Amino acid sequence: MNKENVTILAIESSCDETAAAVVRNGREVLSNVISSQIELHKLYGGVVPEIASRKHIEKINQVIESALEDAKMTLEEMDAIAVTYGPGLVGALLVGVAEAKAIAYAGKKPLVGVHHIEGHVAANYLEHPDLEPPYLCLVVSGGHTHLVIVKDYSEFEILGRTRDDAAGEAYDKVARSIGLGYPGGPKIDRLSKEGNPTAIPFPKAKVADSPYDFSFSGLKSAVLNYLNHEKMQNHEINAADVAASFQKAVVDVLVDHTMLAAKDYGIRKVAMAGGVASNSALRQAMREACEKRGYTLYHPSPIFCTDNAAMIGSAAYYEYCKGTRHGWDLNAIPNLKLGERG
Ligand code: KG4
Ligand code: ZN
Repeated sequence: MNKENVTILAIESSCDETAAAVVRNGREVLSNVISSQIELHKLYGGVVPEIASRKHIEKINQVIESALEDAKMTLEEMDAIAVTYGPGLVGALLVGVAEAKAIAYAGKKPLVGVHHIEGHVAANYLEHPDLEPPYLCLVVSGGHTHLVIVKDYSEFEILGRTRDDAAGEAYDKVARSIGLGYPGGPKIDRLSKEGNPTAIPFPKAKVADSPYDFSFSGLKSAVLNYLNHEKMQNHEINAADVAASFQKAVVDVLVDHTMLAAKDYGIRKVAMAGGVASNSALRQAMREACEKRGYTLYHPSPIFCTDNAAMIGSAAYYEYCKGTRHGWDLNAIPNLKLGERG
C-alpha cells in the first residue's frame, strides 16, 4: 500500500497553534513550522476561540511560506495538500480548511482532510521508523483522552475514553487553582519535581464496568475541595505537594489502564501521543511499567506531542495511500469522531 516519494504540505489550525509542515512518505519531516498563540491566550487564562481564529488568519500564509522555504520546495512539488478538519474549535479549523482548499484548487492538487487525533497518533511514525501497527496507543491531549488499538494505519478500535474532562484539561484547571498560568500541564510537570507525590492521597477514579475508561472531574473537585478546606483552616498550601500528588493520581490511572489493556489484548507495543504525552512523570512511569513487562514503548519528542502539522502530514500520507481524497465541499467538523469520515 505504501507509495514512494509522496510529499505532502500539511496544515493544522484546530486550536491555538498555526502550523504547517512538509512531510515525505509519512515519516520524513522536511520542515515543521509552528506559530504558537500561547502568549496571547495566557492573558485570559485559556484559549479564547475568536482570538484564535483571528490569529490563524493573520499567520497562516507566513507559516506555510516558511514551511516550504525550510523544506526548500515549492507548492508545485507537493503531491497533496492535507489539513486538519476536526475535531477542534470550529472557527480555528475553518481557517486551515479554507486555506488548504484554496491552495489545492489553485494548484490542482489532491486535498486530504485529516482527523486531529489520527494526527497525534501518527506523530509516533516521525521518529520511529520501525513502528508499524498493530499497537496500543494512549492519546492524552488538552481535549481528548483515548485508549485505542491502532489496528492498521488509520484504523482504530477505541477501548476507552474519558467520561468527562480530558487529562490535559484537568492539568490546566488544577494549575489555575494553584495559581499557575496557562497552559498548566508543563507548569505542573515542572513544579511537581519539587513536591512530594504521596503528600495528599487524591482519588484515582475508576469507571464502574468500564476498566479502560477515564474520569478526571472527581480528581479535579478533590483538589479544589482540598484547597478550600486548607484555606478555611488557615493552613499554608504547599503548591508543589498539591501538584505532585495530583500528577501522581493522573499518571497512575493512565499507566494502570494502559497496562491492563495491553495485557487483556496481548499487545506488546505501546505508544503515547498528545500534549500530555510529553509529561516527564508519565513518560517515566510508562517506561518503567513497559520495561517490567518486556513491552516496547514509543512516544514522540515533546515538539511532536503538542499540536503541530508534521503529525498531520504523516497521517495524511497513510490516508493518501489508501485513496482518501476530499472534495471542494470539505467542511470543518468540530466534534468529528475518531474513525468517522466527514
Ligand atoms: O495535544 P495538545 O497540544 O492539544 C490538544 O489537541 O488538546 O495538548 C495540549 C495539552 C494542554 O492541556 C497542556 O496543558 C498539556 O497538553 N501539556 C502537558 C504537558 N505539556 C503540554 N500536560 C502535562 N505535562 C506536560 N509536560
Ligand atoms: Zn492536539
